[in-house]
Amino acid sequence: MEKKIINLGIFGFGCVGQGLYEVLSKTKGINARVRKICIKHPDKQRPIDSSYFTTDQHEILDDPSIDVVVELINDTEAAFQIVSTALRNGKAVVSASKRMIAENLRSLYDLQQLHRMPLLYEGACCASIPVIRNLEEYYDNDLLNGVEGICNGSTNYILSKIFEEHQDFSSALSRAQELGFAESDPSLDIEGFDPKFKICILLLHAFGTFVKPAEVMNFGISRLNDFDISFARQRGCTIKLIAKCRKQNGNVVTYVLPHLVPRSHLLSDVQNEYNGILVESTFAENQFFVGKGAGGTATGSAVLSDISALTYNYRYEYKKIGQSNPLSLTQNLQLKIYLRYTEAGQVDLEDFDSLSEKYESSENRYVVGLINLSRLREASWLKNPGVNILVMD
Ligand code: HSE
Repeated sequence: MEKKIINLGIFGFGCVGQGLYEVLSKTKGINARVRKICIKHPDKQRPIDSSYFTTDQHEILDDPSIDVVVELINDTEAAFQIVSTALRNGKAVVSASKRMIAENLRSLYDLQQLHRMPLLYEGACCASIPVIRNLEEYYDNDLLNGVEGICNGSTNYILSKIFEEHQDFSSALSRAQELGFAESDPSLDIEGFDPKFKICILLLHAFGTFVKPAEVMNFGISRLNDFDISFARQRGCTIKLIAKCRKQNGNVVTYVLPHLVPRSHLLSDVQNEYNGILVESTFAENQFFVGKGAGGTATGSAVLSDISALTYNYRYEYKKIGQSNPLSLTQNLQLKIYLRYTEAGQVDLEDFDSLSEKYESSENRYVVGLINLSRLREASWLKNPGVNILVMD
């Protein structure tokens, strides 16, 4: 098949934009060249020639010589407006804006169908790991049972520094920010929103179900204290923030929660900004994808791979949408959790189906028990900053 030359118009020149530029300039075989880069702050010092830059989005969106728009900005609303205008204007689009994509999956799908233009976003989920294309192309049957793993580099970096190097939470977070892994609002990482956006996208490609991020429970790692860390260590475990979606009695269940992970588990070895995704299907059983999940060049390499895929007219077919037995979202899943709190009355243990452990000291209390995800999601006591949970399965 003959490869075409692609003219790129890029939005954003932050960590990922610069990473893409670096990857692009070091990749000889790619038939793509940068025509224009649209940025917000023209006075900032940039490492490349100023003739590349514009602050006028029309110089890209209305330029007929630009065939691919690469959207790598931070502002969710502006990103959606850019991506939808580009598709309407007959341009193929590559984006790495997980939040924008997750919150607008249905509209973005409709726009692609209506304008017959592709939107690719491998860089939005687990950066360098080609997980979307694999879910889309390889697991195109009813045999896929679940997709789960670590899909946030910053929190995995923080947890690795705490468990492997005994560092404290805030210095590990500052380092993750310096290294360009964290979001500009790092609460999106540490409260588990960022991996939730990613699992909503993966869920669509795995099972063909549109799920809005607001429907999915997320709880992060910001409440982790020394007591929780020693609880994990005493049980031969580490802690990982896990995003999960899996089939459950003809429906699909999904969440992002911190888990106690035994040292023998594959995910326990995924360290620092690496991500790890386990795919479970009926006959192949478990498969494991691992790779850098954050950082400019790691994400830039996925964006470049999407650009390259466009040179052979690749597009997502969303094959699983409209399959014979569509899966609906359910919150009906029993979870075994560790719940740590400081005072009786701070939590409502009646919400648990059963308790298997109870501990009390003057400073800390915890229980281990079974609770339904739907209950946990609604529990008002979980809003109390003195309370923390970890899933134990
Ligand atoms: N803040 C994100 C992370 C960047 O830490 O995984 C990559 O999506």
